[in-house]
Amino acid sequence: MSGTSSRAPERAWSVGTASGMFPFLGCGIALLRRPLEFLRSLPAHGDLVEIRLGLQRAWVVCHPELVQRMLRDTRTFDKGGPLYDRLRALMGDGVVTCPAAEHRRQRRLVQPAFRPSRVAGHTELMAEEAESLCHGWRAGQQVGVSADMLALTTRVISRVLFSDSLDAATTAEIRRCLAVVVRGLFVRTVIPIDALFRLPTPANRRYRHAVGRVHAIVDAAIAERRRGAPRDDLLGTLLAATRGDGEEASVTDREVRDQLVSLLLTGAESTALCLTSVFSLLARHPEAERRLHAEVDAVLAGRRRPGPADLPRLVYTRSVVTETLRHWPPGWLFTRVTTRETDFAGCRLPRGSTVVYSPYLLHHDPVSFPDPDRFLPERWLPGQDAGASHGAMIPFAAGSRTCLGDTFSMAEATVSLATVAARWRLRHLPGPVEPPRPAATLGPRSLVMTCESRNRDNTSTGLPIGR
Ligand code: HEM
Repeated sequence: MSGTSSRAPERAWSVGTASGMFPFLGCGIALLRRPLEFLRSLPAHGDLVEIRLGLQRAWVVCHPELVQRMLRDTRTFDKGGPLYDRLRALMGDGVVTCPAAEHRRQRRLVQPAFRPSRVAGHTELMAEEAESLCHGWRAGQQVGVSADMLALTTRVISRVLFSDSLDAATTAEIRRCLAVVVRGLFVRTVIPIDALFRLPTPANRRYRHAVGRVHAIVDAAIAERRRGAPRDDLLGTLLAATRGDGEEASVTDREVRDQLVSLLLTGAESTALCLTSVFSLLARHPEAERRLHAEVDAVLAGRRRPGPADLPRLVYTRSVVTETLRHWPPGWLFTRVTTRETDFAGCRLPRGSTVVYSPYLLHHDPVSFPDPDRFLPERWLPGQDAGASHGAMIPFAAGSRTCLGDTFSMAEATVSLATVAARWRLRHLPGPVEPPRPAATLGPRSLVMTCESRNRDNTSTGLPIGR
């Protein structure tokens, strides 16, 4: 390991190198085995740290100011690198993966469905799905929280994209495929050696099958809609664009599929992990849980679920979600690629260099967030200064490629949490608690917890008698 200093005109940044244990795989093994610890060891080497991934070199950006600069300069740091190369095989060139030159047009096409004004309308369906999920729980029952939260968010995003075109069995199949894809993507990102993944191993076969099924499901939904009546959902918007209706240039059939697959996968996975992490953390922080319950009870005042007008009043509930996104950000590691030779942090990066940034790394920097390993929703209450963390809080990234679903997912997580917490408290099973597992995303992936009803005069369903 080595570190040297070089000077950019406006301030001195430190540039270092972290070497891996295995020359051929570089740091890929450390990233696979203990990724969070590995990441957190990097700032000791510099603000910008060179690592090896397989045969490739990459630079990890460790300082929040440099990360912000990189995210805002999309002409130099474009979507690319091992993660996005893999995602393209899955999502084609949709809004998540497309190069900067295509991005503005694509974002304008899909953004309207996720604007804050539309999100308010979606909160009804979010609360309805959350209520229907926890309505089936029974006091004392063990529930698969990871699976249930993914089922919930898959239902919500598929209603926004396709209305009711996907039935329950199909939504469940998407959920299962997603789990396989997320794990496979991560391995392919940290060990970017294509030949390994062409081998006919069971894991490679499972991955290819899952990708094929997601594509087939979306293709079938598109074909069915073409035969049926138009609907006011994102599929309807995209199909109208293929006919050249509206102001935008017309969209190809291939793009319709790419956009839908991109939004379906990104829209379900991260919010589900966020919610699963929320319940896991709350069960270990009784004071935060107590404050949350007090707020939910006061705001709902006996109603079964919140509506759009309740969102601004669920201040502590939202802080719990925000602190969870800081503590365990579902999107924890991303790559970019330089489109030209560039001077970055005083280091000359050749064209085509892979640059890595990690919300997890920035969120655990003690300079930005004192006592970073402590789960403390109070950081985010109005009047606290965590908001002034100088660009270090980036669960949804920043700049023009910031998450399209940021407002949507904050609303979804807040409303779902309030709906569940109104009647249930989730408890960890005895024994060790599953830690967040890093793959393409970060969070607990097979968390099972026990339901406890919050109402003393309750029925076994957690609902107060007479309501
Ligand atoms: C808690 C939930 C979520 C988190 C933490 C999250 C996080 C992120 C992050 C960090 C990025 C930037 C990736 C990068 O810089 O390479 C991103 C991009 C994106 N996210 Fe999310 N996301 C969440 C939910 C959603 C939802 C519900 C949608 C549904 C539509 C969505 C759609 C997208 C899209 C389309 C992009 C690409 C945006 C672009 O390049 O213009 N996300 N998300």
